[in-house]
Amino acid sequence: MGARDIRQAVHDDLPAMIGSLGQGAYFADRLARQDTGHGLLLVAWESAAAVGDVYVWLAPAEEPELRTHLPGVALLTHLEVVPWRRNRGIGTELLWAAEERLLGDGHEQVALGVGLDNLDAQRLYERRGYAEWPHGEVATTKVVYHPDGRRELRPEVCRILVRKLG
Ligand SMILES: CC(C)(COP(=O)(O)OP(=O)(O)OC[C@H]1O[C@@H](n2cnc3c(N)ncnc32)[C@H](O)[C@@H]1OP(=O)(O)O)[C@@H](O)C(=O)NCCC(=O)NCCS
Repeated sequence: MGARDIRQAVHDDLPAMIGSLGQGAYFADRLARQDTGHGLLLVAWESAAAVGDVYVWLAPAEEPELRTHLPGVALLTHLEVVPWRRNRGIGTELLWAAEERLLGDGHEQVALGVGLDNLDAQRLYERRGYAEWPHGEVATTKVVYHPDGRRELRPEVCRILVRKLG
């Protein structure tokens, strides 16, 4: 593998992203949102292979609790690393890249939701200084994109974690 690089995705990246990460409909949607200034799609590359991604949600949150308690706060969503490249620091680097970008753009904090049973991700966030907010768990809807293009909506109860930037 060559050097690792994390950068903002562009439309030309889509075929390579789908090649290793799948979820073509998801990434096409997020690139379209990015075009309108509603978000930021960061992708980790090793040589020509996309090995992970995170989408920074800059639009108003879909969950009313988040809009009430964290108005205007960017949300980190869909952090993932391909299974065969996990436990090598890529998830941590993606988080760091998103946080640095937000800090540079003047954001003071960032938040995210993590499923109650997703202990691997919870350890990662806590190590990076994320702490649970005091307003309780939040019922969210997870959109699962299947390889055949089907979209499945699944309820997911999340812990909301917040980190101050800078
Ligand atoms: C959560 C997820 C993104 C983490 O990605 P990752 O690249 O494995 O994360 P990291 O490598 O930075 O950290 C994972 C572990 O590897 C360890 N690690 C980091 N760099 C390492 C290295 N160079 N060598 C050995 N171990 C390393 C970390 O200490 C951490 O240890 P832990 O499991 O004891 O907490 C990944 O597991 C994933 O894609 N999960 C499925 C999707 C998901 O649940 N996303 C979160 C939604 S909220």
